[in-house]
Amino acid sequence: MSFPTHRPRRLRQSPAVRRLARETHLVPSQLVLPLFVREGLAEPQPIGSMPGVVQHSLDSMRRAVTDAADAGVGGVMLFGVPEVRDARGSGADDPNGILNVATALVAAEVGDALVVQTDLCLDEFTDHGHCGVLAADGSVDNDATLERYAAMGLAQARAGSVMLGLSGMMDGQVAHVRAALDAEGYTDTLILAYSAKYAGAFYGPFREAVDSQLKGDRRTYQLDPANGREGVREALIDAEEGADVVMVKPALPYLDVLADVRASVDIPVWAYQVSGEYAMVEAAAAHGWISREPAILESLLSIRRAGADAILTYWAVEAARLLAAGR
Ligand code: PBG
Repeated sequence: MSFPTHRPRRLRQSPAVRRLARETHLVPSQLVLPLFVREGLAEPQPIGSMPGVVQHSLDSMRRAVTDAADAGVGGVMLFGVPEVRDARGSGADDPNGILNVATALVAAEVGDALVVQTDLCLDEFTDHGHCGVLAADGSVDNDATLERYAAMGLAQARAGSVMLGLSGMMDGQVAHVRAALDAEGYTDTLILAYSAKYAGAFYGPFREAVDSQLKGDRRTYQLDPANGREGVREALIDAEEGADVVMVKPALPYLDVLADVRASVDIPVWAYQVSGEYAMVEAAAAHGWISREPAILESLLSIRRAGADAILTYWAVEAARLLAAGR
């Protein structure tokens, strides 16, 4: 009779041994909650394709941020949904624009309890829905957009944003915004670069969440889903330009890119579990086809295991509570 030479099951024999043998840990401070605030709303509005997520009024957003801080979440990422849009996204750098007003309110409300972050991109503010301004031929004008990002970044820093989420995928955006911040004395304002942001189908529900005006796609600036090396290259460029944190987005379909980026840079790497990833689990769970809470926690743990130091997720508050309860 021959016996197995190796018995890896020993490490799985009991909850106590398994707990001690765990390689990866997920804690509430590693989670960041994205929040949508819509101008002119009196009451929060549900988002059909994201059950449980709403477009907030200024008031309900303040309560949501307080809840997130109470749950021990590490940060919030604010997105604005303006009432009026134009070709250059004027609402983005207007101090009275919805995102900047919301940022000032939240910064005053939570202070240091969590890190207040803002989306720095023009797509919510333009009437054509692109992340930048358009040239005469209709293409997205990279260098003209950089000027708009610098103005938007300064407006957000003045409103009290601690970390700017540069999600527009324009070349040179990190260096340009960094220089603008430094020139005005905002040397402590952090830059989170959405470095490896892929063009694809998983942002669908988000487009409903921000009433996106986009026709067409973002393939001239976001990455081709076929390209892993190019995602690493983008992260290296952003780190070199002065990003404090780089990000991979979406998360689950791009865990390989996440692991490669983690191995290539020595600054924090975050991942964004996007709206489509959220919607898939919620829809399957609503049908009874998947067990909701374990699926949420497993997906987050997998993103940590692949290399993310922190995760943007619409489940941040719920997951933080599940983790605190020992799940
Ligand atoms: C750009 C931005 C988008 C998301 C975050 N920032 C939209 C896009 O690139 O089309 C998507 C987030 C999600 O799907 O959850 N402002």
